[in-house]
Formats: sequence, structure tokens, C-alpha cells
Amino acid sequence: MTTYITTPIYYVNAQPHLGHAYSTIVADVYSRFRRLCGEPVRFQTGTDEHGDKIVEAAEKEGVTPREYVDRISALFQQTWPLLDVVPDRCIRTTDADHIAVVQGILQKVYEKGDIYFDKYKGLYCKGCERYLTEKELVEGKCPDHQREPEVIEEENYFFRMSKYRQQLLEHIETHPEFITPERYRNEVLALLKEPMGDLCISRPKSRLTWGIELPFDDNFVTYVWFDALINYLTGLGYPQQDFHDFWSGCEHLIAKDILKPHAVFWPTMLLSLGIPLYKRLHVHGYWNVDDTKMSKSLGNVVRPRELAEEYGIDTLRYFLLREMSFGLDSSFSSALIVGRHNSDLANDLGNLFSRAQAMVKKYRGGKVPQPQQEKQKDIELKGAAEKMLRLYRENMAEFHFHIALQAVWEFVGLANKYIVENEPWVLAKDEKLSARLDTVLYSVLESLRLLTLVLQPVMPQM
Ligand code: MSP
Repeated sequence: MTTYITTPIYYVNAQPHLGHAYSTIVADVYSRFRRLCGEPVRFQTGTDEHGDKIVEAAEKEGVTPREYVDRISALFQQTWPLLDVVPDRCIRTTDADHIAVVQGILQKVYEKGDIYFDKYKGLYCKGCERYLTEKELVEGKCPDHQREPEVIEEENYFFRMSKYRQQLLEHIETHPEFITPERYRNEVLALLKEPMGDLCISRPKSRLTWGIELPFDDNFVTYVWFDALINYLTGLGYPQQDFHDFWSGCEHLIAKDILKPHAVFWPTMLLSLGIPLYKRLHVHGYWNVDDTKMSKSLGNVVRPRELAEEYGIDTLRYFLLREMSFGLDSSFSSALIVGRHNSDLANDLGNLFSRAQAMVKKYRGGKVPQPQQEKQKDIELKGAAEKMLRLYRENMAEFHFHIALQAVWEFVGLANKYIVENEPWVLAKDEKLSARLDTVLYSVLESLRLLTLVLQPVMPQM
């Protein structure tokens, strides 16, 4: 079994913030977890560099789109090592291989007859970079961007998305693991049960030139979402046949804001191309800051670089994974991260490590002793370790990171309790109890070995 884990490719109209860091750290943790299980993994992240939004941002700074995207995408790439995130590729939609793959796919879908030319009038939200339906508006505005969409009427190319609606609906109904958590699956099922239109996949060059030219009409560029989603195939070397090696293990990770493009646009594109659908789509909630939406205008945008400097990489990664119930929104605050650091890391885990180390040093000259005959308490601790490993594996595989970590900390508690109950400091005073001390110290060290192993994907510096 292989794993191909991807994050969204981020728009370069903003600098990396906590939200981007969270998705990318989760993908890194998952890739390290799969590697720990001995499985081959590819992990891809990247930047989404075409479209109106980027042109607007470049204009604001008085530079060309090219200069602008080079600068911001470099900022993203420089952020990952600071968080101990190690992707196999940071793809850019301006990369030459990606442009070639997008054009190849457009040509293929066009020749198949799934792309047609038509006139369209619709409500376009630049923030979302897509047309919204009347139903999606709240008081006439896009609920995500708080702005009224523009009415746009123009001639464009359309992808026959609606042709694949029924097929996609059946796939989701028969594959409960396809979109998780379940609430997002239900949202998509509800969406697909309604009739749906086709997808506008071009922009006339009279309005936008910063994009990938359509191979069959040079008066148009490709719509950003059609361009961006294809990054997941480019990264595996599509159309070379060996792209299937990792594609069969493809798991996309996104937040709830971009559910529709990933759960509807993308699978219908894959169906048209005759490529098997991705394996799973994992959808997480939003990080708010002190219970408020993170936004530039509120001045509360949290920068991952600063967090890593202030709290350390391991603490930051642990906090993000432990604090958020995957799928639900969560709130970030300094008090919360400091609280987790002090109670879970310094106190529970730190104490266990330092006590064990100190005792092995003091009583056995720093050498791991040979265990002797086991008692009931030792067998119980071993059983607890096995249970922890099982819960850890199952929950990590299902993206229930906070539950996996809860199980690990339950075991940390039991190991601490084991030390207290077995009183190695009392055993050390009596030569006749030396064999017992060996066994107790060994059991503690074995527990630590397992803990280091399971925590390594989350806290690689430990
Ligand atoms: N470019 C598109 C994605 C194309 S993927 C083929 C895009 N980019 S984005 O820069 O807006 O990134 C959105 C993603 O950033 C979210 O899906 C999520 O992964 C992350 N986050 C942005 N803000 C976030 C929070 N406040 N909280 C958690 N993650 C969020 O959409």
C-alpha cells in the first residue's frame, strides 16, 4: 500500500499563517506516521499562482505578477523547514511541467466532447474564485468573504460537470470513507442530490491574461480551479503510467472552505478523464484566534514562524494536533498553548522521561538492565502499551489525531503511576531486591521507547 498525501496549494495573495501551517503540519505528521508503518509515501504541498486575485495583489505592490508570485511562493517554501515539515515537492502552478499537464488534460477533455462554448451570466466571488449560486449567498453576500459577488456575463468554455453528477453521487453513497468526517460527506451528498450546472473553465484574455492558455483557443486562459486541482496529478508525473503507483493511495487534506471544488469539481474532472477517483478527502475545520476569525483587517493573523520561535516546533505541532478535534473549528490562544506545554509536555511526559533517565543513571550507571521475572503489574503495563499502540494506529489512520494523542497520554499517566507504585527508590536500597529493580527500570525504559516511537511523527525533534 502506498500513500500520497496532499495539502491545498495556497494562494500567494497572502503570507503563510496559522491555517496554512496547520494543514501542512497535519500532512507532514500523517506522512511520517505512514513511513513509520513502513509504507512508501509521497507528500505534496504547493502554491496556487494564477488568477484575478494574484494580479490584484501584485498590482497593489506595484510589481509584475511574475515577480510577485516568485517572492511569496519562496516565503511559503521557506516556512516549511521552520516547522520541521518535509514535503517531497512544493509544486507551483507556474511550473513548466504543470502547465504542460494542464494543457494536455484540457485537450483530452475537449476532444472527448466534455468541453463546450457558451454564454453565461452569473454571480462571481473573487475571494472564492468561483461563481456562487443564489442559495449560497447570505444577505446577498458571499458568507466567506463578506462581499457582494460581481455579476459577470461573458462567453466562455464549460466543462460538462453535470454529466457526471449521478455517477459521483453513487460513488459517494457506496464509499462511506470517500469524504470524512461524515458531516462534510452529508453536505456533499445534499449538494449532489440537487440539479447542478456545468463548470465555467475559461476566462477571456480581455479580462485576465495571468493564466494557462487554452490549447484549443488562445483567446482564453484556464480558470484557476481547473488549473489548480490538476496539481495533484502533475506531482506524480501524470500522464506517465507509473503515476498510478501513488495515485492509488491518494488522500487529499483540505479545510471546509474548499469542499465543493474538491468534492465536486475534482472528482467529475477525474471521471471525465477516466482516472480512478482519489481514495479519501479529509476535511478539517477552521482555526480562530481568541474565538475570533483570523483576518488581516482585525490584525490578529498568527504567523507560524513567530509561533515556532516562541514556543518551539515540537510544542507547536503537538498543540495543533492535540487541540483541534479534526473536522471542527478550534480556537488558538497563547494561554492554551502554554497550558498544553506545561501540563502535557513538561509535567506528564517530561517528568516521566527525566525520572526514568535519572534513575537509570543513578542505579544502573546509565545502562539498560536485563528484565527478570515479570509480576502482574509489569504485565499490566505491557498490556496498556499494546492497547495504546492499537488505539494510536487506528486513530492516526483515520485522522483522529486528538484521540490518538489522548490514548498516548493515558499511557504516559499509567507509566508514571507504575513508577510511583513500584517505588524504585525503595528497591534500590535493598540488594536482595536488585532483580526486581532491573525489571521495573526495564519496563519504564521500554515504555519510553514506545512513546518516543509513536510521538516521533508529531514531535520529530524529540
Ligand atoms: N488555492 C486554493 C486551493 C487550491 S487546492 C487545489 C485555496 N488557497 S488558500 O490559500 O485560500 O488556502 C485554503 C486552505 O488554507 C484551507 O483549505 C486550509 O487548508 C488552510 N486554511 C486557511 N485558513 C485556515 C484557518 N483559519 N484554519 C485552518 N485552515 C485554514 O483555497
